[in-house]
Amino acid sequence: MNDRLNTLLHKQDLAKADIVELLALSVPEDIEALRVRAHEVMVDNVGDAVYYRGLIELSNICALDCYYCGIRAGNSNIERYTLAKSDVIDAANWCADQGYGSIVLQAGERSDEGWINFVEQLIVDIKTSTVRPELPQGVGITLSLGEQSRATYARWRAAGAHRYLLRIESTNPQLFASIHPAGQKLTERQTCLKWLAETGFQVGTGVMIGIPGQTLEMLADDVLFFKTMDIDMIGMGPYLAHNDTPMGSWEQPLSKDEVLLLAYKMIAVVRLVLKDVNIAATTALQAIVKDGRERGLTYGANVTMPNLTPTEVRKNYQLYEGKPCMDEGRAECRGCLLGRIEGVGRHVAFNEWGDSKHYTKKD
Ligand code: 5AD
Ligand code: FES
Repeated sequence: MNDRLNTLLHKQDLAKADIVELLALSVPEDIEALRVRAHEVMVDNVGDAVYYRGLIELSNICALDCYYCGIRAGNSNIERYTLAKSDVIDAANWCADQGYGSIVLQAGERSDEGWINFVEQLIVDIKTSTVRPELPQGVGITLSLGEQSRATYARWRAAGAHRYLLRIESTNPQLFASIHPAGQKLTERQTCLKWLAETGFQVGTGVMIGIPGQTLEMLADDVLFFKTMDIDMIGMGPYLAHNDTPMGSWEQPLSKDEVLLLAYKMIAVVRLVLKDVNIAATTALQAIVKDGRERGLTYGANVTMPNLTPTEVRKNYQLYEGKPCMDEGRAECRGCLLGRIEGVGRHVAFNEWGDSKHYTKKD
């Protein structure tokens, strides 16, 4: 490794130009040095445990029309579903029984009162039914349910959810506008992130990597935005085209392998810059290569989300093409994922919420 790279990898406050330089690394030994340093920073700041969040894809009904997403309102090629409350409670209990300390409830975006109330009741019921001697306050609940009013966030927080994921997708106004209909505004999403912090959530955000038109400078701005917003958790993954969306026919300047490598470099750089946050190795990494997720863990990520959605409806929740584990059930994913994680020398922390150290330090 050259001296310049070594200095950069140990520099305290990376500037935009430094981040761009790291994201542009192309020599395999240099990328390996970045990976090793990101791992070291992770171990020093948050330890080397991997935390699970059992992912329950509640519903694919969505009021929005994001140009990239397979469950956008305009896609009439999928069957729409909402899980029954009993199925969600069953999944959450299975999760608690396995020692998965946390769940994520994710769905398309809806903000009608019926939905807000359904989610609120679900949170209350999950919290009470997942109490175990090892989990005295039930499973930790993360929500990933899109843009809502401040009052809705406050209701869901009061019901017992304590973390929320809302990806900004891109902080570049032109790029954001190119992948969303005119009614969806970057500024509104920024306001939602502020409301989430104000209502007491641990806040997660992130971007898609490899969006056509995205530059390394834009990604560097995204990383600095996470820092300025004092974000607690990061979930990022490669952008993957879905045929039944407007962006499905756009030209993708990067190959899948190039997008994957860039996603790993982003994970590593975010670890260097944000240090003590939780970073997810997302499912989309596994859509490109089989070991994509656990490789993500070796670049500084410390969270992953085993899928708990009932197998019958998994095929209807494909945000992108190539989503893994379509035919597997939760028990198969359990064994498979654990083996993969241990295969890269990591261990899973069971029966813990695994809160973001960045957040707990703020307290
Ligand atoms: N490729 C990759 N990620 C996608 N998402 C939605 N559609 C795609 C796609 N085609 C991501 C978005 C969203 C999250 C739930 O899934 O970043 O915030
Ligand atoms: Fe689902 Fe491997 S993680 S089958």
